[in-house]
Amino acid sequence: MSDQRKPFVAGNWKMNMDAASSRALAAELAAAAGSFGDVDVAVCPPFPYLAVVAEAVNGSPVELGAQNVYHEPKGAFTGEVSTAMLLDVGCRYVILGHSERRHILGESDADVNRKLLAALDAGLCPIVCVGEKIEQREAGETGKVIREQFEGSLAGLSAAQASKIVIAYEPVWAIGTGKVATPEQAEEVHADLRSLLEQRYNADVAAAVRIQYGGSVKADNAASLLGQPNIDGALVGGASLTAEAFLPIVEAAAS
Ligand code: PGA
Repeated sequence: MSDQRKPFVAGNWKMNMDAASSRALAAELAAAAGSFGDVDVAVCPPFPYLAVVAEAVNGSPVELGAQNVYHEPKGAFTGEVSTAMLLDVGCRYVILGHSERRHILGESDADVNRKLLAALDAGLCPIVCVGEKIEQREAGETGKVIREQFEGSLAGLSAAQASKIVIAYEPVWAIGTGKVATPEQAEEVHADLRSLLEQRYNADVAAAVRIQYGGSVKADNAASLLGQPNIDGALVGGASLTAEAFLPIVEAAAS
C-alpha cells in the first residue's frame, strides 16, 4: 500500500446468500464500520439483494456495489440490468470483467470495454478485473495476457476517466482455490499494471488508480499482500461471506 491511495476492500458475494443472510451480514458490517480506520469498504451482493443490503448499510460507511451491468441504457434486453438501475438502488461500484464472467459467461474485452464506458458515463465507479489462467502463467504469458486485457478493456478511456477506475488483479488460478499468489508474484503484476497506466496516460493517473488483489485472500494472508507497495486493497470472494472472515481483512488494510 502507499500513502497516496486509500486502501479499498470489496466483498464479492458472487451467487451466494439469501435475503435474510444478506441483511444480517450487511447489518453486522455496518455496525462494525466505526472501527474500520482509513479504508474504503464495499459489498457486492447478487442483484436481487442489492436493495436489501442498501437498506442495511444506509448511513454507514459501507458502500454498495454490483457484480455486473449491461451497457445499454434501457429497453428490450431481457435479463439485463442498467447503470441507472444500479444507481437507483444505491450502488456506487460495479465489478466488470470478473474472470467468472470472462471464462464461464464468455465476456470479451470488448464487452468489458462497453460496460466500462457506460458505467463511467453514469458516474459509477468500476472495478475492472484482469488476470491470467494457470496455463498462461506456466507458459510465461502473464505479462502479455494482462497487457491485452488492460488495453482491450480500457480502450478509448481518457486520462480523466482512467483516474476514476479501480483495477483488480485476480489470477484465475488463485480464485476460490485456496492457492494464493505470493506477495512477490502479485506485486510484480501490480507494478506492471501501474506502469501500463503511466505509459498509456501519465504519472498522475498511475499514482491515483487503486489496484486490488483478488484470489483466495484470507485473514492470514491479507497483511503480507497488502504490505506490497502497489497492492492497494483486496477483492474478496469466499472470505467476504461472513463478518468473522471479512473484518480481519479490512483491519489488515487499515494498518
Ligand atoms: P476468492 O474470490 O476470494 O473466493 O478466491 C475472489 C474473487 O473472485 O473476486
